[in-house]
Amino acid sequence: MALKWMVFCVLAAASAVEDPDNRKFGLPTWITGGVDERCYDELGCLQVTPSWYHALYRQWNYWPLPRILINVKFRLFTRKNPTLVQLMKWKEPATIAESNFDSARPTKFIVHGFIDTYNNKWVKSMTQKLLDIADHNVVVVDWSGGCLPPYVQATANTRLVGLELAYFINYLKNNTGLNPGDVHIIGHSLGSHIAGYAGERVTGLGRITALDPAGPYFHNMPSYVRLDPTDAQFVDAIHTDVAANVMMGYGMDDPVGHIDFYPNNGKNQPGCEALERPLALVDIVMTEGFEEAGRVMVSCNHNRAITLFLESLNGTCPYIGIRCPNYNDFKEGLCFDCGANGEDCQEMGINAQPTGLPPGEKYYLLTNKQTPYCLHHMKATVKLGSPSGGPQSVKGTLTMTLKSADGKALTTQFSKDEKFNHGETKTVLLSSPDDIGNPVAAEILWTAKTGQVLNLKNLEVDKVALDGEGNVLTRAKKAVSKNTFCPASSEGSVIAPNKKTEYVSSASCSL
Ligand SMILES: *[C@@H]1O[C@H](CO)[C@@H](O)[C@H](O)[C@H]1NC(C)=O
Ligand SMILES: *[C@@H]1O[C@H](CO)[C@@H](O)[C@H](O)[C@H]1NC(C)=O
Repeated sequence: MALKWMVFCVLAAASAVEDPDNRKFGLPTWITGGVDERCYDELGCLQVTPSWYHALYRQWNYWPLPRILINVKFRLFTRKNPTLVQLMKWKEPATIAESNFDSARPTKFIVHGFIDTYNNKWVKSMTQKLLDIADHNVVVVDWSGGCLPPYVQATANTRLVGLELAYFINYLKNNTGLNPGDVHIIGHSLGSHIAGYAGERVTGLGRITALDPAGPYFHNMPSYVRLDPTDAQFVDAIHTDVAANVMMGYGMDDPVGHIDFYPNNGKNQPGCEALERPLALVDIVMTEGFEEAGRVMVSCNHNRAITLFLESLNGTCPYIGIRCPNYNDFKEGLCFDCGANGEDCQEMGINAQPTGLPPGEKYYLLTNKQTPYCLHHMKATVKLGSPSGGPQSVKGTLTMTLKSADGKALTTQFSKDEKFNHGETKTVLLSSPDDIGNPVAAEILWTAKTGQVLNLKNLEVDKVALDGEGNVLTRAKKAVSKNTFCPASSEGSVIAPNKKTEYVSSASCSL
């Protein structure tokens, strides 16, 4: 995409800019193994050691821009002032004492990313929704003075912004009785790593949520260079634009938290490909305005993490991520089991919780291409029959309609023009924005692929098994519900093309 390439060119060009005062060359430090340090009055010091460099992943380490230029501001919103900002300045204690800040409430910090501002639509929307769901202090961290290109400079600035944020939280702890355990920092992109640098210097920080943590310059680096699970009591992350370099995406593949979610494998988000359609941007400008069109064009995938998190704040459908070693296994339904205590099925977004498992596990889920983004998952298995002397395999499209006891029906495509080998068992992951609950029957519609020899058109299905996410809507029990269905009619398991065949549960029917 043109604009994405332009952004990349700005980054590449930055490497050629000469700025001896503000720049550390990679090579000399590699050789000498020296330590460079800069101190920032009450905030403390930053060090650059050889381990901050990597020949492939982090060739440059600049020093941050001066504090006065980055000019970090803390913008407070509460239910008493949901839209009118109160600036909190620790150098002017009255601005804090006379504000609506109350240390007895939980406090949410929102930290924006690269080339972004405190004043945009998503920050406003997140502020409002956080105030809607509970009586929070919401503090928007404005570092717009430090988030501009070149990217390498912005990356360096995040370290200083992290110091400012840590100092501010520690100040509130010392002077207002704020408990750092009640503090939750939500950061997008570079803002995720700012949260990490802050958490490193705040003892007992409650939670960090990373929304597509930035990848370039952090990917494959030691944990103290990037956000990691030691930065807060609970660190959760949503990855939506993972790639190894900035040409491919802005996000980061490496797990950074106690729990890491990868919607749609963490990349190529559904609906983002629509931007390649001519006039798609005109649509967005018409419906969402120029700002949104610009954001989406620069990176629809990178911003999707924000959209998903926003929906988790007031959505009705829980985003359930399923722990799996990789996305392919997840898609084939091989990981569809929530574990003995539900630890393998976890809710993504504001309701994410610690699992008790060691950090580094990946949780996968599918999401929709438009609002509502949240989907319910179901694993469907068909046990194919073995026709005597009949065709061994047949190609076609299988559509499955699941029916609930209260008359709801949900139709999903099980396969499209796929080969079915008789005698085998075939499993797929189904997803739907609607919750069918616990289905009581499944109806199969079979369409044979055209161009096959006439007698190869029937499909034989002996049994259908369905595993649902279970009673997750209550957000309490995370068990999988299991059902097995057998042919309802005495005609048996042979399904002719374009004929609907019903499968129901019975005492003798099990997989
Ligand atoms: C908070 O108090 C501790 C302990 O007295 C002190 O070491 C620290 O510098 C203080 N921090 C701030 C930001 O006031
Ligand atoms: C959540 O809030 C947004 C407005 O902020 C609204 O458009 C949306 O319909 C709400 N969703 C639900 C499920 O209530």
